[in-house]
Amino acid sequence: MLSGASAVIPAAGRGERFGRGQNKVFTPAAGIPLLGHTLGAFERSESISEIVVVVGAHELDEARAVIEGFGLKKIKAVVAGGGHRQDSVRLGIEAASPDTEIIAVHDGARCLVTPEVIESTIAEARASGAAVAAVPVIDTIKTATPDGLVDQTLDRDRLWAIQTPQTFCRDLITRAMREATEAGFYATDDAALVERVGHGVKLVMGSYDNIKVTTPRDLEYVESKLGGRVKGEIRTGFGYDIHRFLEGRRLFLGGVEFPGETGLDGHSDADVILHAIADAMLGAAALGDIGVHFPNTDPRFKGSSSLLLLEHTAGVLKSAGWQVVNVDSTLVSERPKIMGRALEMREKIGASLGIDSGRVSIKATTAEKLGDIGRGDGAACYAIATIERI
Ligand code: CTP
Ligand code: MG
Repeated sequence: MLSGASAVIPAAGRGERFGRGQNKVFTPAAGIPLLGHTLGAFERSESISEIVVVVGAHELDEARAVIEGFGLKKIKAVVAGGGHRQDSVRLGIEAASPDTEIIAVHDGARCLVTPEVIESTIAEARASGAAVAAVPVIDTIKTATPDGLVDQTLDRDRLWAIQTPQTFCRDLITRAMREATEAGFYATDDAALVERVGHGVKLVMGSYDNIKVTTPRDLEYVESKLGGRVKGEIRTGFGYDIHRFLEGRRLFLGGVEFPGETGLDGHSDADVILHAIADAMLGAAALGDIGVHFPNTDPRFKGSSSLLLLEHTAGVLKSAGWQVVNVDSTLVSERPKIMGRALEMREKIGASLGIDSGRVSIKATTAEKLGDIGRGDGAACYAIATIERI
């Protein structure tokens, strides 16, 4: 089994060309800070196992708030950057897990990157050691003399505009970075350090949308791109869950406790209604299922209320640009009778999702004594969720 790749996200610049007197990565686009969009793409990339975020020393809390707000769970560390981008990248690499084999460096300001581009640089770096996202240059490029005279016209067929992710075998980038640091060599991208030690760097097709937000005009472009995706798009997802009753466990359904009733078996509180709803939400956004986002091994949710899991699921959706419109659920169980407490459940679920309880529906039926559920061995729940672009 291949070990996962570590993402290092330099986001410690000052955004001077952006001209708003603050680090541009915290500027919102479609309601979400640029950094949130960027981190969301890495969170969704299957090969990425951890993310190191590098921001200014005074921005650590602001970055943590973005991470917390979106329930990002791959964040390994948030560290302070240095004076040059290259220093920030070095500090980020130093904070990655020591056993990581691949490092994917990506500018925090390139917030339209897609998991597909990230994955292709990782695959190529595993094969050849170093791979960067790039696109063929569209304009003809000429060099000029200091007094503005054309010096040379370059062969456009051989020109590529270099982007990030720039992805490397860890040993290679670590060695290249150390040698550059010792020599006081600085470059505008990471691949240049690897080229300097004589290792080939493979170009991988990036995307013309994968721009580095530099000026306010770029923000307009990003907004229009996200806006195209956001406005009016509605989706529906389906979720199902089932748990077995187990003597000695407390019973939680829809975020409320039923004292004196035998509970359901599971890693968390085994709240079958909330799990079905969370799966429906993730399904609507095509973001996998709760097993992917909250594995049984995740200590954060052991024995905890699944309302927390639901809140984190809403965060995962938010980082992908979605919010919940409404959820509907049907519990299938012989006992207990739950409808007397449906309002309480709807309020708790609504609070976790950040929506009005009028958008949360709870229903229940027995299985008419048919099958395993009918025998009272366990409880199941079906749910659907409708979500919309934010
Ligand atoms: N960066 C960094 N540390 C620095 C400088 C830059 O981590 N000392 C990051 C930026 O936050 C950005 C990426 O490197 O995500 C690319 O840099 P750039 O686009 O130049 O961003 P800024 O340096 O913030 O912008 P400017 O050059 O206009 O000040
Ligand atoms: Mg800069």
